[in-house]
Amino acid sequence: MQNIDNQKLPRHIAIIMDGNGRWAEKHSLGRISGHKRGAKSVKLVVRACREMGIKYLTLYALSIENLLRPQEEVGALMDLLGKYLRSELQEMLDHDIRLITIGNIEAFKEPVKNTLKEAVEKTAHNKGMVLNLALSYGGRDEIIEAVKGILEDSLYGKITRKDMTKELFSRYLYTADIPDPDLLIRTSGEYRLSNFLLWQTAYTEFYFTDVLWPDFRRKHLIDAIADFQRRERRFGLTSDQLQRDGSDIG
Ligand code: FPP
Repeated sequence: MQNIDNQKLPRHIAIIMDGNGRWAEKHSLGRISGHKRGAKSVKLVVRACREMGIKYLTLYALSIENLLRPQEEVGALMDLLGKYLRSELQEMLDHDIRLITIGNIEAFKEPVKNTLKEAVEKTAHNKGMVLNLALSYGGRDEIIEAVKGILEDSLYGKITRKDMTKELFSRYLYTADIPDPDLLIRTSGEYRLSNFLLWQTAYTEFYFTDVLWPDFRRKHLIDAIADFQRRERRFGLTSDQLQRDGSDIG
């Protein structure tokens, strides 16, 4: 395992948790068993991030497209989410974790929708770490929703053409209140963004690993953070410029 510098931690880590199905196949199990093991990784990784002092963790738990999978699999994912929330709510309250969600959870059925809303409300005042679950989420849908919000506000004269900046646009996204991710991890050897945080990852560092999500543990997270810490984030500038200005943009 590698050493990490606690002074240079990524403020926001986003994870595309991929490979549950392949993990299950590798172990001659059904896909749902893969998701169950994936939920265990979620618990361990949330705990590891909290203990390390990561301030924001966004997990891609369910894309809009995932909802089109066979009903049995979608139902099992919903059950797992409900179970996870019920079993982890106390841990979130005990450790000052705030749960938020991005995506269209209105599409969810009861009782999971209610469990989710309750967990969000009960943890709303926590300040130690933000756990952000992307649920029924799609990056392009998020951008379209932002555009609709902007058109509506301009119709009522709340904003005009000259107000439009990158910062204002960001205020219309689901992620309005959280910083962009510094580090994005994707497991399972796939090299795609899969409609995840399309706007927010403009300057994010990407880290890909072959490890399947159900096998992902604290040591893999540390490897990803160590790799991130070896990189120089230039945000389009030159290395010289960064050193001259002593900039610490990210
Ligand atoms: C990708 O694996 C994973 C998902 C579609 C769902 C992620 C869900 C969990 C990790 C468990 C439940 C979540 C919470 C928050 C408790 P895949 O099925 O696409 O894997 P494959 O590409 O190998 O088929």
